[in-house]
Amino acid sequence: MTGKIIAVYSPKGGQGVSCVASHLSLVLAKKSSNTAVMDLVAECGTVAQFMQFTPRLHLGNLNTTDFHPNSSSLRQVAHPKQNNLSVLRYPEERFEKVDASKFIPVCRNYFDFTVIDLPRTKLIPVVCQVLANADVVLLLAEYHWTSLFTLRGFLESESGIMCLQRGAKVVINRREWLPADVLLECKKIVREPVAAELPLEGCLIGQNRLVERGRFFASVKKLAKSLLEKGQ
Ligand SMILES: Nc1ncnc2c1ncn2[C@@H]1O[C@H](COP(=O)(O)OP(=O)(O)O)[C@@H](O)[C@H]1O
Ligand SMILES: [Mg+2]
Repeated sequence: MTGKIIAVYSPKGGQGVSCVASHLSLVLAKKSSNTAVMDLVAECGTVAQFMQFTPRLHLGNLNTTDFHPNSSSLRQVAHPKQNNLSVLRYPEERFEKVDASKFIPVCRNYFDFTVIDLPRTKLIPVVCQVLANADVVLLLAEYHWTSLFTLRGFLESESGIMCLQRGAKVVINRREWLPADVLLECKKIVREPVAAELPLEGCLIGQNRLVERGRFFASVKKLAKSLLEKGQ
């Protein structure tokens, strides 16, 4: 069991969790022979939109003891254009029933990296389990008051404290130029060090698609590199 689980989470909606999870998985797939991205958001499969690929394999399939990865099961989950990337979807009808303690070990065994797009709406058991067991938790926010105070509220909650104790990293998305004093105020609200800043990317605005060039992608690559360098 050597694979790493990377959870991407934000206590506020629309912060770019699916976007970051998708791009990060793409970058990791270029580095590692066997990477997966898993959409744990039941309501809509945004990762599938970014990938322009609707995976057939549900988490329910992965969550069985008789799931033995082989070339045929791999074909069911592998992204057609990205050889090393497997896209896993979440079975809506079983949302409340899925037990992360079952699929996390399978992911660790099977994939070098599993990037998980977590829903923010409710800290239901499966989300808490992933946050508590992931090797890396990326907490996304933006430099604006609502986002920062929502993040701060989460960081002061039981789950947030647990995430910080386990080394969760704050990542600021859609970073734009800010006057130094405003930036300072923003950072004071977060209280935690900001591990990475991802810039606003014009061609991503309102677009659920992969953009493999430009400043945003370069920053995601840098983030991935820092995660790999630290042996995480
Ligand atoms: N850095 C960015 N620059 C521009 N647009 C972005 C950026 N990050 C995300 N977006 C866009 O914002 C929208 C919401 O992102 P999404 O990943 O679906 O948010 P979440 O999963 O947190 O609800 C998407 O259309 C996405 O392409
Ligand atoms: Mg999303």
